[in-house]
Amino acid sequence: MLNPGECIYQIVTDRFCEGNPAGRPRAELFSSDADNLRKYLGGDWAGIIARIQDGYLTGMGFSAILISQPAENIHVCMEDEAGTASYHGYWPRDFLRPNPYFGSMDSFRALLSTAHEHGLKVIIDFTPNHTSPALELRPDYMENGALYRAGQFIAAYSGDMERVFLHNGGTAFRDAEDSLYRNLYDLAGLDQMNPQVDELLREGIAYWLDQGVDGVRIDAAKHIPPGWLISLSGFIHTRKPAYLFGEWFLEAHGCTQDNAVFANTSGMSLLHFMFTHAIREVFHGRRDFRAFADMLRESSGSYKHLYDQLIFLDNHDMSRFTRDSDRWRTDLALVLLLTSAGLPVVYYGTEQYMSGGDDPHNRAMMSSFSRETTAYRLVAQLNRLRAGNLAIGYGSTKLLHVNTGVLAFERSCKGDVALILINQEESAYILPPLVTSLPQGAYSSILKDIFPDFQVAAGAEGNIQNVMLAPRSAYVYGYESDLKEPAALHFYPKAAAPGSELIIRGRHLGDSGRLRIGGYEAAILSWQSGRIVAKIPAIPAGTHPVQGLTSGKKEFRVPEELTVWTGAPVTVRLVVKNLHTDYDTRVYVTGNVYELGEWTAERAAGPFYNQIVYRYPTWYCDVSLPADCRIEFKFLLRSDSGIVRLEQGEVHSFHTPAEGVSEMIVEWQGCRQESVQLSEGDAAYG
Ligand code: NOJ
Repeated sequence: MLNPGECIYQIVTDRFCEGNPAGRPRAELFSSDADNLRKYLGGDWAGIIARIQDGYLTGMGFSAILISQPAENIHVCMEDEAGTASYHGYWPRDFLRPNPYFGSMDSFRALLSTAHEHGLKVIIDFTPNHTSPALELRPDYMENGALYRAGQFIAAYSGDMERVFLHNGGTAFRDAEDSLYRNLYDLAGLDQMNPQVDELLREGIAYWLDQGVDGVRIDAAKHIPPGWLISLSGFIHTRKPAYLFGEWFLEAHGCTQDNAVFANTSGMSLLHFMFTHAIREVFHGRRDFRAFADMLRESSGSYKHLYDQLIFLDNHDMSRFTRDSDRWRTDLALVLLLTSAGLPVVYYGTEQYMSGGDDPHNRAMMSSFSRETTAYRLVAQLNRLRAGNLAIGYGSTKLLHVNTGVLAFERSCKGDVALILINQEESAYILPPLVTSLPQGAYSSILKDIFPDFQVAAGAEGNIQNVMLAPRSAYVYGYESDLKEPAALHFYPKAAAPGSELIIRGRHLGDSGRLRIGGYEAAILSWQSGRIVAKIPAIPAGTHPVQGLTSGKKEFRVPEELTVWTGAPVTVRLVVKNLHTDYDTRVYVTGNVYELGEWTAERAAGPFYNQIVYRYPTWYCDVSLPADCRIEFKFLLRSDSGIVRLEQGEVHSFHTPAEGVSEMIVEWQGCRQESVQLSEGDAAYG
């Protein structure tokens, strides 16, 4: 399980290092001179193992790697000019088999054990959204999106009698429904609400979790019904503790409400695209540090668990951050990335200043494994600080001075402090006097071997003055307090069902004690000074504080609250027929369980859709609900002007399945014209 004090190195497996040339694919799929970036280039798990063993990755202080999806992909090329092969791992055909061009299952297991021996966690990419490119009218196109289960054919896109796939055309990214229920590009979209698909995807991810992977990146999370994804998150958390995060692309400005709600309630973190856009715009001269500061304010308002979201400069889907001549920008941006709130992901080759435009130029073979580059040394220094100074991983952020080209901020946590000063101007800059949290004393920047040093002297109030920042330089001053008291810093996951494991990080927690979640005693599975593993007890659903008592009788409380679901989740497609509404009206559902908002309008589930799977006046929504549970519910209409109306008539009810997916169809019973006031605890419909 990862925590925010860590740092992830993202590897495109095929592009990092070749360890076993004998495992190369046949000529049609392979570019032997590494000239055609749309073919396999030979990188494999054996190559990653070699680079772990020779200390290249741990030398930079990384504690985790994110690798391409390990599952078997298609064995044919795309019919485009370049003959693109599935070197990236995003065109799976069998979730229960390894990609042979990356290595055998033994090689994958060797990767896991080597990584773990060297203190590295392994996160895999996983694509529950789709298989491979397919065309409805051309069964001979590529592999026709075919899906297999451990080698046994399940279905293909064209001629899909069992409706394993979506057949609603490709998305135009018009709105949420269009993105969720149509194919992403020409990729054969899996219908997660088909029981066979749901089961196979859960079996598929369980297979890799059982091998011992530590985390999962959910590819294209924005294109998968959130209700189903929440159930997947619950399934994973009840099966094995693993760090989960989704790829939910956002445009440059502004967090959408559905993105924030998902990040806050799903038990899954998200890649923080607003951070990426902002940091790229600042260092590439399109905006300045004031815009970055605005993004920080906005995202701390949107994300309840900011520290668990993943921050990054670039990845395989955008041009590389580094532009050939401007290495200083990469250096300064790495400083900001590795000192900001969030879990950083560094894209392979950034430390070698690899540059390159859009896909596939951003995915070239690793250019060198030099340990002498400034970026390599910078990352190593900053990761050392991350590991030792609580302020970076867990601290609050305070902006001290922001102007177009200069940013000064501090992070602080439990007496630990980090002061970060960045000047991206061509000229030196003298900071105005600042008041920091640094205890009185003189401090040297931990980056003094990389940028010009400047010693700051903090006065009795933490005040510093006459600080001169050299052009295009960064300074990081750290103070580590001699914390002796028990301190709980973080827990994960932030939402899960009773019975799931909860992992708490802290310091000086002793070797035993008691833990209470929402006042209820939790069973302890292991207790060490820095890490407690407990089982979430069967308690009323809701958000609960997590508090403990060490055997030394010291009390502690973990920051943030845990959302406990009613039970292990399953997904139900709720459908309501004959619901005629005004144009500005959206449909939601509320009901007797926490997942449906317990008869409140604010936490009602939805919105419902009416264009693709079912059409107006029929509405549908895939909702995550507790398994094997009696559900009572009614629909709510919410108009843009804020009027909320509740369905009249009998309460609808049904019993959810013990696992898997199901559908519940009811008739709309009408509603009164007047607005209703529903609030927490309203028993009228309970
Ligand atoms: C997002 C991935 O990051 C991208 O590289 C891929 O092509 C699409 N999802 C489809 O899997």
